[in-house]
Amino acid sequence: MQFHSHKDKIIIVDFGSQVTKLIARRVRELGVYSEILTPSQIKKIKDYDTIKGIILSGGPSTVTKKKFQTVPKKIFKIKIPILGICYGLQLIAKLYGGKIKSSKKRREFGRALILKKKNSILTKGFFYKGSSVWMSHEDAVVKLPKNFQVVASTNESKLTILENNREKIYGVQFHPEVTHTDNGKYIFKNFLFSICKLKKKWSIPSQKNRLIQDIRSKVKKGKVLCALSGGVDSSVVALLINKAIKKNLICIMVDTGLMRKNEFKYTFKLFKKKYKLNVRLINASSIFLKRLKNIHDPEKKRKIIGKLFIRIFEREAKKFKNVKYLAQGTLYPDIIESQSPTGSKSSKIKSHHNVGGLPKKMKLKLIEPLREFFKDEVRVLGNSLGLTKDISNRHPFPGPGLGIRILGNVTREKINILQKADYIYINELNRLKLYDKIWQAYAALLPVRTVGVMGDSRTYEYTCLLRAVTSEDGMTADFFTFPKDFFNNISNKIINNVKGINRVVYDISSKPPSTIELE
Ligand code: XMP
Repeated sequence: MQFHSHKDKIIIVDFGSQVTKLIARRVRELGVYSEILTPSQIKKIKDYDTIKGIILSGGPSTVTKKKFQTVPKKIFKIKIPILGICYGLQLIAKLYGGKIKSSKKRREFGRALILKKKNSILTKGFFYKGSSVWMSHEDAVVKLPKNFQVVASTNESKLTILENNREKIYGVQFHPEVTHTDNGKYIFKNFLFSICKLKKKWSIPSQKNRLIQDIRSKVKKGKVLCALSGGVDSSVVALLINKAIKKNLICIMVDTGLMRKNEFKYTFKLFKKKYKLNVRLINASSIFLKRLKNIHDPEKKRKIIGKLFIRIFEREAKKFKNVKYLAQGTLYPDIIESQSPTGSKSSKIKSHHNVGGLPKKMKLKLIEPLREFFKDEVRVLGNSLGLTKDISNRHPFPGPGLGIRILGNVTREKINILQKADYIYINELNRLKLYDKIWQAYAALLPVRTVGVMGDSRTYEYTCLLRAVTSEDGMTADFFTFPKDFFNNISNKIINNVKGINRVVYDISSKPPSTIELE
């Protein structure tokens, strides 16, 4: 169980909602440390001293069945304030003798107008004329639980915000954590500061020294290996560990030949010269290309790239003696996703490439200094370590790289074509100051050739697909809406400058049902 010794934290009990992570983020954005636990993890807590508030998340369960997911009754008796959200509210209502009904008639999905019924410490600054909240529920509380009062209603559910002020227990049927709820932040602000009496103490830079100290005391004089890719996560891990143990950190960069144009050389130089890290560069592009020859299937490509990467890394690592640790850029969402609140495993969509297969084989102990953080927090940590903004603000890039952005067979010619197109696209986003407004953008090469005309001649060349999405964490995403003139300009720039491409298309699919990458 990942249960840290932070003082003054908020615990979020995850009942399986798609948006539980957002609750943790909202709390942290307000300067309070928060952790997500499953219902079975909370049962194991013995000492509640550092917990100043508990939030019960939404989820797919229903309290209308005989068996339902719950929390130990004890938490309602130890005077820690509690806020229930959606299922969390229904659970509180059930445990306090209210009535909950499942009904297709009562269900609400999407925005709903919220109507204030009384003042509450939870809703200070929250209501304004015409403000709406984001609903996503089929069950609803239909009879008020004992000792609770109604703070607000919607047209469909009369018992939308409930409070038991004396016991400091509150519940909202809507989702204040999603941006579609107007003023949702106020619910958290009031809960944290006015009800739980917390102080704004948590900030990423304030954690830096603790992290460095933790690494030092864990590793002592041992050596640490790190696979450095130049992405945000591995870069921050490397800088952090370097601050802690300097020369005992060995970074290995495996050049698969599947990176963006110039990116690998740039990163190598930066870490070696500017940050003075102990970095070893392995050029393995020919072998990757050879193994990918005539492989069309996306999953096969992912597996080949992942396995080969591990083999090469392993071979290089053996050259160093006395290595005990492997550093990995595991993030908090990876931890949350591996602890299913319902015990069910979600179906595999893609085999993600990471170095997860390494420690088992190499008998190395893992060191994961970013396991408490969300991606945007890692970027802030990177900035406070002096990491250049080029890297700390860099969009996510998948481990298999251009191997999964060249659809179908991967060849050196196609890599060259795609690198050029992608370079033009990303430069254009930077020039127009759009890069930081987009969560992830890239160019892909489709295995489709079409007829075109350039000058007086016929062309028969590849199609370049451009993708740009906005997202909070990559789990869901919307395609980015560009200003009017953007497409005209970028299409001309790519077609005029990249031999091999005579058509540019833009991907207008969101996730779900599509994914961010194409393979
Ligand atoms: P999808 O395509 O599943 O991608 O919507 C979600 C996010 O994950 C990134 N991605 C990867 N990251 N190794 C990674 O480290 C991988 O194998 C991998 N595949 C996809 C993708 O770029 C997006 O940000």
